[in-house]
Amino acid sequence: MSGTGRSTDPPQNPTSPVLQARGVHRFYRRGGQLDNEVVALRDVDLTVEPGELVAVVGPSGSGKSTLLGLLAGLDDPSGGSVWVAGERLSHRAPAEQARLRGRHIGVLTQSSGLLDHLDVLGNVMLAGSFRQPAAGTAQAVDLLGRLGLRERMRARPGTLSGGETARANLAAAMIGDPAVLLADEPTAEVSRAEEAAVLRLLTRHRPAGSGTVVVTHSVAVARAASRVVTLVAGTAA
Ligand SMILES: Nc1ncnc2c1ncn2[C@@H]1O[C@H](COP(=O)(O)OP(=O)(O)O)[C@@H](O)[C@H]1O
Ligand SMILES: [Mg+2]
Repeated sequence: MSGTGRSTDPPQNPTSPVLQARGVHRFYRRGGQLDNEVVALRDVDLTVEPGELVAVVGPSGSGKSTLLGLLAGLDDPSGGSVWVAGERLSHRAPAEQARLRGRHIGVLTQSSGLLDHLDVLGNVMLAGSFRQPAAGTAQAVDLLGRLGLRERMRARPGTLSGGETARANLAAAMIGDPAVLLADEPTAEVSRAEEAAVLRLLTRHRPAGSGTVVVTHSVAVARAASRVVTLVAGTAA
């Protein structure tokens, strides 16, 4: 289990990027056929400096989720590399990728990562326990309250609405203050008021020196970002 000996680890250089994609490509082979290749990403560079909130925008199918999966180490690029907190994340053994992700990265994907045999609070606390053993009940309750889920803490994930599921996953991604937060359309299914709560968390509740990448169609989220990266047909414009 990760997390032991953390207090003796050397501090990260505060001026180096928290997250970097260097010339990443991602090809998919449809039906395993060599002549039926889909280029999801083509030579994309992305550097996230400490304190930055980067919004990734672009039409459906432009490669946004593919990029987020590479940045999270959930998928490996066909070419290029991904670095987190000064360490290479891509093309490493799955256990090493899981260790780096558990330690540095909170990720919210478009599918729910919540376990149905735990309630919402239990799921958020479990996520926190991997990242930072000291991240306790108080932080989980605080995050869920800020996201308007105080009344739903004891609910099973299967009973949540789409918007509630997205917010519960966001709480699980944010607990323990990861150095990198990656969120794929966190406001896709939420109401205007809920979107404002999510936006407040993303802009005001992130620790100093951390980096955030949000895939979004929301004008409000893009406007709050320090930088907007537009993907068009797998290329960063
Ligand atoms: N597992 C996969 N197998 C084959 N093609 C895929 C796969 N995942 C994504 N793609 C293709 O890659 C492109 C980018 O997809 P995606 O990253 O999901 O775009 P976005 O998130 O911007 O909508 C699309 O053409 C999509 O069909
Ligand atoms: Mg997507």
